[in-house]
Amino acid sequence: MSVKEIIDLRSDTVTLPTEEMLEAIQHAELGDDVFEEDQTVNALEKLAAERMGKEAALLVTSGTQANLISLMSNAKRGELVILEAESHIYWYEVGGVSMIAGLLPWPLKSPVGALDPKEVKAAIRPQDIHLPKPALICIENTHNRHGGTIIMPDQIKAVSEAAQEHDLKLYLDGARIFNASVALKVDVKEFTKHVDNLMFCLSKGLCCPVGSLIVGTREFINRSRKLRKILGGGMRQAGIIAAPGIVALESMIDRLEDDHRNARRLAEGIAKIDGINIDLNRVQTNIVYFNIGGLGIKADVFILKLKEKSILALTLTENTVRMVTHKGIEKEHVEKAISTIEIISNELQNEKVHAD
Ligand SMILES: Cc1ncc(COP(=O)(O)O)c(C=O)c1O
Repeated sequence: MSVKEIIDLRSDTVTLPTEEMLEAIQHAELGDDVFEEDQTVNALEKLAAERMGKEAALLVTSGTQANLISLMSNAKRGELVILEAESHIYWYEVGGVSMIAGLLPWPLKSPVGALDPKEVKAAIRPQDIHLPKPALICIENTHNRHGGTIIMPDQIKAVSEAAQEHDLKLYLDGARIFNASVALKVDVKEFTKHVDNLMFCLSKGLCCPVGSLIVGTREFINRSRKLRKILGGGMRQAGIIAAPGIVALESMIDRLEDDHRNARRLAEGIAKIDGINIDLNRVQTNIVYFNIGGLGIKADVFILKLKEKSILALTLTENTVRMVTHKGIEKEHVEKAISTIEIISNELQNEKVHAD
């Protein structure tokens, strides 16, 4: 690590493609994917479906597009979708759930991201002329805004039973589902077997430059393919995107464990610093949130101070800072981040003493 090197802890989306991925792009067999003739895309979609234990898959441009298409493919305009109140779909997808999919989002609060099946059942109200038809339940795993928390397979199963009882579909925003499976050391199918369909992202911890996959039944994927076209997401020689995706599924999953180890190291280091509060129980994968309220400054000012010292982070709330580990972050970067936070904390405490 050079002295001036920037340590970018904003997101695992900043990861760059590996040499092997660049090589795969260069040699990818290409065709027109709108005609379903790109053999590299076809191979990736087949592989993704097999990995997830479903019939078929569809390559799309982003996680947001995957969620939007899946919402539209699972429910009709005017219907109701139950989702977790801190979910990415509800917070960060520009309201596409209502603006484009035409659905009524029905958010349910939860302590760490897992929907309570009893609350889900209560939200599925008996049909009445005044009420929209509930059609879909969305879950998120790992749960981003709750701190990369894992929703356990049995928690998903319980929600799926509620969905089945009332004939609703269950969809998983699995942008980081491989982080959950690696952290629990269980096959990813242990999560996916309880949902009707899902998406996962290639361009987060798996380091691909672009792309997400929607996975589900053949019928669901056929419908989704047409919706992708409506939304302008039909791509031509998309094999250049799919080729690194195949590399990712074949060789980039197990290494997520390194990111989890570094996140834990970072969290435990930060936990020792005065003025900072962190819930270590929530640090289950590669995301670390910590509260800097005790330092007497707001999170946006804090991250500017970090930036001056070549460390990049994001804010989550007024007092909460977010850091995410990924392939570009090694043990020494974590140590540098911890010592820098400690320096800033000490500077602030000293300023406070002098002001007092
Ligand atoms: C849980 C979750 N879902 C969906 C997305 C959207 O993915 P994209 O940024 O590729 O649109 C993200 C992005 O961070 C996410 O964390």
